[in-house]
Amino acid sequence: MPEHPAPLVLDPAALEADAEHELLRARGPATRIDILGVEAWSVSDPALLKELLTSPDVSKDARRHWPGFEEALRTWPLALWVAATNMFTAYGGDHRRLRRIVAPAFSARRIAALKPAVDGIVEDLLDALESTPPGEVADVRERFACPLPITVIGRLLGVPADRAGEFRVLVSDVFATTLSPEEAAANTARLYGMLDALIAAKRAAPGEDMASVLITLGEGGADGERLTEEELRDTLLLMINAGYETTGNLLDQAITALLGDPDQLAHLREGRASWPDVVEETLRHSPPVKHLPLRFAVTDIPLPGGRTIAAGEAILASYAAANRHPGWHDDPHAFDVTHITKEHLAFGHGIHFCLGAALARMEGEAALSAFFTRFPDAELAPTEGDMGPIPSLISNGHRSLPVRLRPRTP
Ligand code: HEM
Repeated sequence: MPEHPAPLVLDPAALEADAEHELLRARGPATRIDILGVEAWSVSDPALLKELLTSPDVSKDARRHWPGFEEALRTWPLALWVAATNMFTAYGGDHRRLRRIVAPAFSARRIAALKPAVDGIVEDLLDALESTPPGEVADVRERFACPLPITVIGRLLGVPADRAGEFRVLVSDVFATTLSPEEAAANTARLYGMLDALIAAKRAAPGEDMASVLITLGEGGADGERLTEEELRDTLLLMINAGYETTGNLLDQAITALLGDPDQLAHLREGRASWPDVVEETLRHSPPVKHLPLRFAVTDIPLPGGRTIAAGEAILASYAAANRHPGWHDDPHAFDVTHITKEHLAFGHGIHFCLGAALARMEGEAALSAFFTRFPDAELAPTEGDMGPIPSLISNGHRSLPVRLRPRTP
């Protein structure tokens, strides 16, 4: 391979993601890539990635630290990922302020208090699935993996139940990486339209939900924290975006892996592994977020081997490639719930570490244990649905998850 190969153009449809990640690892700890027309450094070495994710020389604030920002706003289908103003894209003090406002809602105590409600939603969804006649196939992504997190996050935020479905479609298109810039911009406009309507409704009739609390803060909360109108809208956007498709992918991937390998299910049934083991191994093996756009070098950053990420250059955190790095895990491509080390970067690392990790883990454990208890004989029916990958460099799930929940009656 030449010393400085041309940027690797990532396939927007991510049809062969595992092979592409292999290629990234083979090109070294960090390598030049092209993601939908934007050049960046993809980092797939876990040690280097952790170093960059904790360095003050790396920012997520495109407005301040990316010379390509204005151009991206006009032409890049993923512009929303760098343009929204919330903790996800904030740097330094702004990040601390924006995260501190929302963080109490995700404390261990608050998440534990949500557990009975999550169990209730899981049971309702499983009751609905139970009506599938024996022998028939259900799309478990469509009817279970995705509705659970969208219902949970919808209730947390105070989204009326009859609007959750619309949000779901719009959020899926935020993760899609095959839209044209115009299609992506139209999707963003529709999403903002729904958020504006939600904010107006909560202003008129506040509740106990997070949207109402954030609106009060925008108007000057009791403890002096403040959110601008734009930050309020974009923080709600972040919550909806971050909380749904990711957790849906976790359930989709875990159910796929367990049904695809009876030995793994046997480890659980015979007590050699637990539901938290399944969740962690799924996060490691098939992380719900494959690549995370984007970060930016604040100053020149020297790389191992003598190259430099120049100030202003973009960085792509390639979490899925890093999680299967052979230097980190033995037999990294095997899904094995008994793996002793399940360390991973599925939730990121450092100051932007996923705020919803505890909620996602709780939802994952509750949903998976209940699903496999209710449908102990479930089996994959891959020929009866499209199990191809979602066309996305970010989201890591299947187009559908066809499962025969109960065998045909003899
Ligand atoms: C399995 C499910 C989930 C996965 C894999 C996941 C993954 C991630 C990742 C990788 C990041 C870090 C992005 C970066 O590199 O900067 C992140 C950030 C974040 N996640 Fe999650 N997430 C999940 C579920 C959730 C849930 C349920 C919520 C709650 C609503 C949530 C809220 C957030 C927020 C607010 C951030 C931004 C944190 C910050 O920038 O300081 N996530 N998530």
